[in-house]
Amino acid sequence: MHKRVGIFVSGGGSNMRALVEDMVDDHAARPAVVVSNNAGSGGIAWAKAHGIATEVIDHRPFGEDRAGFEAAITAALAPHAPDILCLAGFMRVLTAGFVTPWSGRMLNIHPSLLPLYKGLHTHARALKAGDTEHGCTVHLVTPALDDGPILGQARVPVLPDDTPDTLAERVLEQEHRLYPAVLRRFAAGDTRIVTL
Ligand code: GRF
Repeated sequence: MHKRVGIFVSGGGSNMRALVEDMVDDHAARPAVVVSNNAGSGGIAWAKAHGIATEVIDHRPFGEDRAGFEAAITAALAPHAPDILCLAGFMRVLTAGFVTPWSGRMLNIHPSLLPLYKGLHTHARALKAGDTEHGCTVHLVTPALDDGPILGQARVPVLPDDTPDTLAERVLEQEHRLYPAVLRRFAAGDTRIVTL
């Protein structure tokens, strides 16, 4: 019986696509639903076109009522019965009220070598710091932002003429390798850290 994975996206969903395309053959998991806060998300369109269930919960009507938004997500998830949640470019902060019940079963990918550069604009911050190395991290989600136990990391060189965009592109290529590799192990109950 495969583990059922819910994948959360806000934008293009390239990480979601990499996860879905890897969940085949002897992979212990299969995609159950793609969730977004953004009806215009390219990830939602791609999931629909590939026969994957989708749920869109627009966060805007909820305003500052994060609990109400998260209750709507929980209700939308229920019929899909996910065992694991993967945040993949999901750009809304989730509160402890949502995260805690998923403790140990919810993953996120962050475009830095955590614990360096939690939060936003990671590539610009790495360049500003003069780092010669950068990368991405898959971690378990805890209520503290970008702070949970690390499940995998991939490193890339920072080149002298890099801009935030060129560096982001190099990191994104590794995200598409790292996240599937981590989920493949995690779904099989193997929490050894993946290092690429
Ligand atoms: C990636 O840069 C990822 O590191 C960050 O959000 C972006 C998602 O891109 N969490 P995509 O929507 O998966 O293409």
